[in-house]
Amino acid sequence: MITTEPYPEKCYLPFIFYPTAMWANQYGNSFVDEHLDMQTPCGDYVLYVSIPFCRVRCKGCPYFVDLLTKADPKNKEMAYLDALIKDIHKWSQYPRWSQSRLRAIYIGGGTGSILTTANLKRLLDALCESFPVTKTTEITLEGNARDYDDEKLDYVANSPINRISLGVQSFDPEVLKIVGSPHAAEASEKVIRELQKRGIVNIQLDMMYNMPGHNIDVWRRDLEKLKELGITHLTIYLYRIHEGTPQDKLIKEGRVPEMADRESPMVKMMYREARDIAKEMGFELYMHNHFCKPGFRNIYNDYNLEHVSDTLGIGAGAYSLIDNYRIGTSKDVEEYIRTINEGHHMITTISEKMDRLNHKERYIMFTLQYFRIYFSRYRERFGSELMGDFGQIILKLLHKKLVFMAEDRIEMTELGKEWFLNVVLEFVNPKFWGNKSSRDEPNWSMNVVLVDLLADNRERWLGSVEEKEQLSAV
Ligand SMILES: C[S@@+](CC[C@H](N)C(=O)[O-])C[C@H]1O[C@@H](n2cnc3c(N)ncnc32)[C@H](O)[C@@H]1O
Ligand code: SF4
Repeated sequence: MITTEPYPEKCYLPFIFYPTAMWANQYGNSFVDEHLDMQTPCGDYVLYVSIPFCRVRCKGCPYFVDLLTKADPKNKEMAYLDALIKDIHKWSQYPRWSQSRLRAIYIGGGTGSILTTANLKRLLDALCESFPVTKTTEITLEGNARDYDDEKLDYVANSPINRISLGVQSFDPEVLKIVGSPHAAEASEKVIRELQKRGIVNIQLDMMYNMPGHNIDVWRRDLEKLKELGITHLTIYLYRIHEGTPQDKLIKEGRVPEMADRESPMVKMMYREARDIAKEMGFELYMHNHFCKPGFRNIYNDYNLEHVSDTLGIGAGAYSLIDNYRIGTSKDVEEYIRTINEGHHMITTISEKMDRLNHKERYIMFTLQYFRIYFSRYRERFGSELMGDFGQIILKLLHKKLVFMAEDRIEMTELGKEWFLNVVLEFVNPKFWGNKSSRDEPNWSMNVVLVDLLADNRERWLGSVEEKEQLSAV
């Protein structure tokens, strides 16, 4: 039956990894040298550095890895940094990286800013000595306002770091308490002002909405605050509850209120008002959930997603894309330190090698994060026509008014943007749907969620195959 909604159920995940399925590394330490082409330069690439620590575990966060107390009695931070720097030196030796263009570095996690100033400096020195960092390489430090004191602010302002991302979530103390965030409500604004005083202009904030107990008045106050801050980039996330997180348990036990229905008028209004305020601030919605002032797009994402360049992820819990394989490094910090100190790369999970079709699928899914696909760019990259390769799916999307066709591109309509991930999921290769074989493999963070999603029933998200055939015949 064809309903008025384009799909049976809306999918709310914020982004996608592809291919999602990964299996435990069967090749051992030889995988990098024997299975990856590390001698040929890869053109453009980006580097992700994982700092897998947080001061607290926020109650609903899927990215949490390991707790680091301020006292750090076992010297975990130092041991990790020592190993991380060895790993950086080891990876940097390959011509694939040394002879290519490094476009961006993202120091995240966890919490990049959690490192002591001395360790942050060691990390930046190691990166700049080992990799071809230039003046135009974007270097983002992701983290939390709680970690910044005067010493760190001064260092950051005088270091190669040129972009700061802060997990603000909200400026309201009650909301932060419900989320379990590490910082005090006034800390984010204070740190933003201090960074700006020191000349850092490129500041990105993560905000969340529809947390338990959240309401439109509190959200409006947050949005008004954003207008005053003079930031350059903004991401807004619809709060998610992942199974097994402390927040999930608290809600099930009735100790924290349920979140409002994501399809309710209030939640839709929250999104619309954020989008309108961003527009008033002179920001453009240039990518799903991402807004920026002209000239302040996230270059790391541009290469990682829009250009689908290689991504080298270093550190516990990092994912890479190298030579058409997705590769994961376990988030077990002690195991990481031990393996690196024994002189090996730590490769924990590996996807199957993407073939040409998977590569095209990945390109489309990731380019759609920016809402449009240009025919000429597709042709230049693959030597074939977008409509020739994916015409049936695109006709379905056109028929459902989820995309429109312009002379040079297809582009998502407002309806398509509302059903964003369902549209993206259309391009998943049928062979990956319903594949449960990697469900019990060592995955982490959002990858687990996406593996589960694809192991699930395709019809739940995309409707029946008969409907698809019926529509493509129209
Ligand atoms: C890896 S964290 C990095 C920021 C930093 N660790 C901090 O929180 O201050 C990335 C972002 O994910 C978002 N996030 C965390 N938990 C979430 C949840 N349950 N639902 C939606 N977004 C979430 C938050 O906006 C957070 O800032
Ligand atoms: S939101 Fe940030 S600080 Fe909180 S647990 Fe997640 S990664 Fe850590």
